[in-house]
Amino acid sequence: MLHSLLSALPANYPWKEHIHCFDTIDSTNVQAKTMGLQGAPHGTALLAKEQTAGRGRLGRSFHSPGDQGIYLSLVLRPGCHATELMHLTCSVGCAVGDAIESVTGLRPGIKWTNDLVFGKRKLGGILTELSLDNEGNVNFAVVGIGINCSQGSTDFPQEIRDIATSLRQVTGKEVSSAQLAAAILSSLHRMSDRLLSHREEILERYRADCVTLGKEISVVTPSSVRHGIAADIDPEGALLVDFPDGHREAISSGEVSIRGMYGYV
Ligand code: BTN
Repeated sequence: MLHSLLSALPANYPWKEHIHCFDTIDSTNVQAKTMGLQGAPHGTALLAKEQTAGRGRLGRSFHSPGDQGIYLSLVLRPGCHATELMHLTCSVGCAVGDAIESVTGLRPGIKWTNDLVFGKRKLGGILTELSLDNEGNVNFAVVGIGINCSQGSTDFPQEIRDIATSLRQVTGKEVSSAQLAAAILSSLHRMSDRLLSHREEILERYRADCVTLGKEISVVTPSSVRHGIAADIDPEGALLVDFPDGHREAISSGEVSIRGMYGYV
């Protein structure tokens, strides 16, 4: 795995020495956080052929069967305060979109905030985790990316079969995971260089990719479900929602469902 990945990376990729490949792991994000706490340098990447406890946002799991997907985490040390990194998940989404487009010719949409989608189905997701000091400075960030690559529809567990897709299903072809992982790493490297200096440009790209904008949505919390229209993305990457009573609110966490997607009718 490492050999084919290294050959697929551009010659000027600067973090080749910091790539760790695993056959099986519980979660590349969990291991990346452990390595981050032990001082792993900026650009440390972990890739696994299989995860036994892949994690998603909001405490969900991420189905990560062997040799069927990309399961990758990257440790970044941007040297800034957490308040300057609110757009990190959005930036990663666009960077992964760039990589997928460069390899397949097709660009996924992004369902706010972190789902990569084709049509009404989920192709993958992003899980961003931060380690902060007492003042809120970022010790390191872990960005975790999971992409379904070679599953046919019956390879997905029953509960996600109607809402998941893979690159094989979308493109009709087998996509080389080494080539895609290399494109993602290279794109993430470019993204990390521009993250703090090009925030508005990155968010403009995110607005173009975000399939949530303009749609009827529901904002779900443990105590309420509220309906509104997704209007815009603010400079922090939050979703601006217009509610029927005329007020606009920035939603920065939690579950947002789009009417007509993932079984929400
Ligand atoms: C989501 O769908 O909510 C996010 C899914 C993120 C999955 C990736 S796979 C690599 C990394 N390790 C994990 O345990 N999760 C992320």
